[in-house]
Amino acid sequence: MSNEPKVNGRPFRLVGLPGDGIGPEVYASACQVLAVLQQGHGLRIELDEQLIGGAAVDATGDPLPQQTIDACRNADAALLGAVGGPEWDRNPAEQRPELGLLRIRSEFSLFCNLRPIVTHPALHAFSPIRAERLQRVDLMIVRELTGGSYFGKKWRDADQAEDVCRYTRPEVERVTRAAARIAQQRQGRITLVDKANVLETSRLWREVVHRVIGEEFPDVSVENMYVDAASMHLLTRPADFDVLLTENLFGDILSDEASMLCGSMGLLPSASLNEERFGLYEPVHGSAPDIAGQGLANPYAMLLSVAMMLRHSLDCPAEAALLEQCIYGCWSDGLLTRDLRPDGLTTAQVTEAVCERLSTPTAAQTGS
Ligand code: IPM
Ligand code: MG
Repeated sequence: MSNEPKVNGRPFRLVGLPGDGIGPEVYASACQVLAVLQQGHGLRIELDEQLIGGAAVDATGDPLPQQTIDACRNADAALLGAVGGPEWDRNPAEQRPELGLLRIRSEFSLFCNLRPIVTHPALHAFSPIRAERLQRVDLMIVRELTGGSYFGKKWRDADQAEDVCRYTRPEVERVTRAAARIAQQRQGRITLVDKANVLETSRLWREVVHRVIGEEFPDVSVENMYVDAASMHLLTRPADFDVLLTENLFGDILSDEASMLCGSMGLLPSASLNEERFGLYEPVHGSAPDIAGQGLANPYAMLLSVAMMLRHSLDCPAEAALLEQCIYGCWSDGLLTRDLRPDGLTTAQVTEAVCERLSTPTAAQTGS
């Protein structure tokens, strides 16, 4: 295990964005784990906490204040809890919490969103899908994150509304290259998910993806799948997927669906990366306002996001793997929150259990 700080000899600069709902609770859990990693594993992290989402709207009127953008410009990565909640539902579009998230993605060109879906035997019983279909599921959703209908022209009058879905060739090329590099580290198989029988944007995607892979990645294969069929195959034969590459909206929908393979939305981490070194790490789940403030939030998605940050932004694969092993050990020991079992633990108890294993790594891996 390496003991040196990783970023040019200086501490790693992290912006913390607790956000709304259960965001601050799972964020606090991540901070506890990072504290243990700093004490016991030689990481040096400078944490700068900033506002985003509804909390930022309340404090400044803006879901992504300039101060937060400036802090991220100076940072190596940002760690986000969640944004949104019913108290801001009636806000005008520019003061909706979600806009803070969409703007930070766009501001930093975080076009490549990675959502790993890995099932664990200890959790098979908690999935609505039959256990035999969950064996060896290990797929990576690569979701394009800064284009499509999320960012196209939008308008509405009393009788009509429009959200334009637009993609450019360079936008498709860069996410294809990112997905191909990931595929090279895995089984080398990309499934391109689209709706090319209906949508012109999908036909552009197909042309570009096949050309880029054919010309630049001879060791990677691409299979086409319509999104409606993909949503079915994800449930009937999830173990057949390696890398699932898709546009923004399809990726949003399919990743929530795929979370059910793991057992709970509270288990899915994500990384949003740009072409430089900045990454935004966040759980896939939302702010869950109905359970906020009660210690019920599942912190594992956030802690797995920390592991992704250790791997992708801090270049600390050993520490990332250790944290993941500690988490899997906890799963094997049934240390789960109430989204998974009615007699489950609190957010704080789960966090403590992970921290304890991290501090005594020999006990970490298999569970005690
Ligand atoms: C996600 C979320 C966001 C999205 C929302 C909160 C805007 O659902 O990250 O999957 O749609 O991208
Ligand atoms: Mg979503």
